[in-house]
Amino acid sequence: MKNMESPMIFIVCSALLLLCTSTAYAQTAKSPPISPTPTPSPAPAPAPEYVNLTDLLTVAGPFQTFLTYLQSTKVLDTFQNQANNTEEGVTIFVPTNSAFSSLKKPSLSNLTKDQLKSLLLFHGLPHFYSLADFKNLTQLSPVPTFAGGQYTLNFTDVSGVAKISSGWSNTKVSSSVHSTDPVAIYQVDKVLLPEAIFGTDIPPTPAPAPSPDIAPAADTPSGTTSGGKASTTSSPSNSSYKIISWGIWSQLVLALSGVLVLFL
Ligand SMILES: *[C@@H]1O[C@H](CO)[C@@H](O)[C@H](O)[C@H]1NC(C)=O
Ligand SMILES: *[C@@H]1O[C@H](CO)[C@@H](O)[C@H](O)[C@H]1NC(C)=O
Ligand SMILES: *[C@@H]1O[C@H](CO)[C@@H](O)[C@H](O)[C@H]1NC(C)=O
Ligand SMILES: *[C@@H]1O[C@H](CO)[C@@H](O)[C@H](O)[C@H]1NC(C)=O
Ligand SMILES: *[C@@H]1O[C@H](CO)[C@@H](O)[C@H](O)[C@H]1NC(C)=O
Ligand SMILES: *[C@@H]1O[C@H](CO)[C@@H](O)[C@H](O)[C@H]1NC(C)=O
Repeated sequence: MKNMESPMIFIVCSALLLLCTSTAYAQTAKSPPISPTPTPSPAPAPAPEYVNLTDLLTVAGPFQTFLTYLQSTKVLDTFQNQANNTEEGVTIFVPTNSAFSSLKKPSLSNLTKDQLKSLLLFHGLPHFYSLADFKNLTQLSPVPTFAGGQYTLNFTDVSGVAKISSGWSNTKVSSSVHSTDPVAIYQVDKVLLPEAIFGTDIPPTPAPAPSPDIAPAADTPSGTTSGGKASTTSSPSNSSYKIISWGIWSQLVLALSGVLVLFL
């Protein structure tokens, strides 16, 4: 047994010795060592999907007015709570700042606190709907919102463009801000005004100018347009990144084992 051990120890020792001297030599010779062992950074564990709505609405698009209303009425907590509940998810239609500033006729200024809260809840659906799911909403119309009861929205699909009608407001999804289960956030250019607050005595709107139904260009920097099928374009980059970094890692491992083989 002892006879077996000593040659092994000798081999290991000499290998270590070789390693030490050669690296020392390499350092004095100022040629960089073959591959400095990189600090092993384990692949980051996939974090659970948590979307901070405050963060998202602050960073994306000009949505400050809506966000401020959401905060003052605490409707934000309702939506965030639903977003945390990944079972159903949430869909929120977010009017731009200019949607609020251009709102003249029925003003929000003299709504009661409860009415304002209902109006904001009216902008959310208690379920995650991707753009591809909007066909379902068309069939389900009138669709109940977070405000419940009479507060329903009608959806129509006009050649791929998702139109929303509250009676007072006729608008469309102008871009997708975020659409990953469980949170969907879509930009709209009008505040959604419910008949349940403002009544059904809607002043006739001048016939809308015949606008060609071209899919609108995205206004927001990130996110996808309302093209319908473009909702998952961001995922490939993420997986290809993994492939690239995996390639680098495997090359490093190969190089290291090559060095070891040389010494043994
Ligand atoms: C969400 O983001 C806001 C703004 O950055 C921050 O103040 C808040 O603490 C965040 N909430 C959670 C639960 O992380
Ligand atoms: C949502 O989840 C985050 C992270 O788990 C938590 O900090 C936050 O308090 C939750 N918010 C609500 C309204 O449930
Ligand atoms: C808001 O107040 C104006 C007068 O200040 C009034 O004419 C209007 O009917 C009010 N609107 C609502 C929804 O109460
Ligand atoms: C949409 O409707 C189809 C059938 O019409 C159904 O299979 C699908 O689950 C529905 N999707 C949602 C999100 O409700
Ligand atoms: C929504 O659709 C229903 C049924 O098609 C209709 O009765 C109702 O008037 C519509 N509401 C609005 C606000 O367009
Ligand atoms: C990467 O993409 C996959 C789908 O290809 C998705 O499930 C996952 O959440 C993405 N991860 C990150 C960090 O974006």
